Amino acid sequence: MKTGKTVYTCRECDYQSAKWLGRCPGCGAWNTFEEETYAAPPKSAAARSAGRLTGARPGEKEHAVRFGDVDMPSYLRHSTGIGELDRVLGGGLVEGSVILLAGEPGIGKSTLLMQLCGQIGDSCKVLYVSGEESRGQLKMRAERLGVNAEYLYVLTETSIGDILSEYDKIKPDLMIVDSIQTMYAEDVSSASGSVTQVRECASLLIGRAKCNGASVVIVGHVNKEGGIAGPKVLEHMVDAVLTFEGERSMPHRIVRAVKNRFGSTNEIGVFEMGERGLEEVPNPSAMLLEGRPTGVSGSCAVCVMEGSRPLIAEVQALVTPTVFPSPRRTSNGVDYNRVCLLLAVLEKRLGLKFSACDVYLNVIGGLRLDEPAADAAVCLALISSLRDIPLPDDVIAFGELGLSGEFRSAASVEQRVNEAVRLGFKRIALPKRCASRAGELPADTALIPLSGIYDALRLFREQEGKNSGEKE
Ligand SMILES: Nc1ncnc2c1ncn2[C@@H]1O[C@H](COP(=O)(O)OP(=O)(O)O)[C@@H](O)[C@H]1O
Ligand SMILES: [Mg+2]
Ligand SMILES: [Zn+2]
Repeated sequence: MKTGKTVYTCRECDYQSAKWLGRCPGCGAWNTFEEETYAAPPKSAAARSAGRLTGARPGEKEHAVRFGDVDMPSYLRHSTGIGELDRVLGGGLVEGSVILLAGEPGIGKSTLLMQLCGQIGDSCKVLYVSGEESRGQLKMRAERLGVNAEYLYVLTETSIGDILSEYDKIKPDLMIVDSIQTMYAEDVSSASGSVTQVRECASLLIGRAKCNGASVVIVGHVNKEGGIAGPKVLEHMVDAVLTFEGERSMPHRIVRAVKNRFGSTNEIGVFEMGERGLEEVPNPSAMLLEGRPTGVSGSCAVCVMEGSRPLIAEVQALVTPTVFPSPRRTSNGVDYNRVCLLLAVLEKRLGLKFSACDVYLNVIGGLRLDEPAADAAVCLALISSLRDIPLPDDVIAFGELGLSGEFRSAASVEQRVNEAVRLGFKRIALPKRCASRAGELPADTALIPLSGIYDALRLFREQEGKNSGEKE
């Protein structure tokens, strides 16, 4: 193709370059660049208006409008019938919104959407487009999940043109496209799953949906090895991005809103995968604490806010003398750089020799702690493992650590404390400056206000005393 301009785009992060590159400067991935040819803008007015958001008739021009004359749209939300999914979406599915559901293959995306089809009821006309499974397979899944979706329309097709013409015939309120990587648009020459195809197919779907006010759920695969375009390519085109996380070997799954134009982000929904599909977990803290060892060093409970909901998780650390010239650090569930920063603060302010140790950090349950309020628990787990002194089992900690070793204030203190109390923690370590916001406590529960990391050592001193008392 000589007509268009050629650019090279990273499949993973959408980084663009004029030349092909082996390693992406944006995300560091290797071999992810793909040639993309920008076609000239479409000549026909119909094609141009496909991408418009206002639904102007083909041939009409857009005009600037005084903001005061813009009508307030009334967004209609439909409950999905799945409480945890409603929570993530900000209260339900907004009419005319486009949602990307991203996750690794086999994590349960099709399962969740089939259950959604069963729950959303016959008040809503749903078209399920599958490019991966046959009608029979879809039926079998519905049967296994106990989903009664007699009113569901299914279409097994991968050509966007044909899908859109079926769409125009059926006029559904909700269309599910599973998955975007299997779809192709006829007038794009590259293979399905390439950046160009994924972007073109999505923009055609979104354009049509925005005109007709239908909701669209697009399924996108995330593939660690590369090879197919990642959801990053679509992130800015859709209204909401939900990611489906979890380890395949473990039953629980977390759906997280990483972008949401109609609700708050960081809200999570927790599910458990079973024989009958995904079940909602109403009490995720209890699930995450299940099987927590007692009296072992290197473990600390933390209360983090996931959106509007407090969640209790367990941080585990293993600190061992290193045999390598530069010590190893691995972190699962906490940002790697954050862990390095905390190790440096502990080394500098408390004189703890982490620089001679390998450090392995893990958050139980595949949870990711993005909040700095997890610092306190990470530090306690690290110190506990380094010194091999267990923390008392009824201790929970939260609070952000500053570079001088001071604990900063935290938000939503009362909610965190209440959740900790509900799950039976008796001693709650928190930044001193927000201790007054903890609300009322039961008589047997105490706050441990910490002004700096030095104060946290008190918790260990107490245990040391107890240990030596036992030995005598
Ligand atoms: N017959 C079955 N019994 C129980 N669980 C099943 C069965 N078939 C599939 N699953 C579960 O469903 C998952 C596949 O879910 P699916 O929704 O197809 O994933 P995705 O669409 O994200 O690729 C499997 O990983 C497995 O855990
Ligand atoms: Mg699937
Ligand atoms: Zn990249």
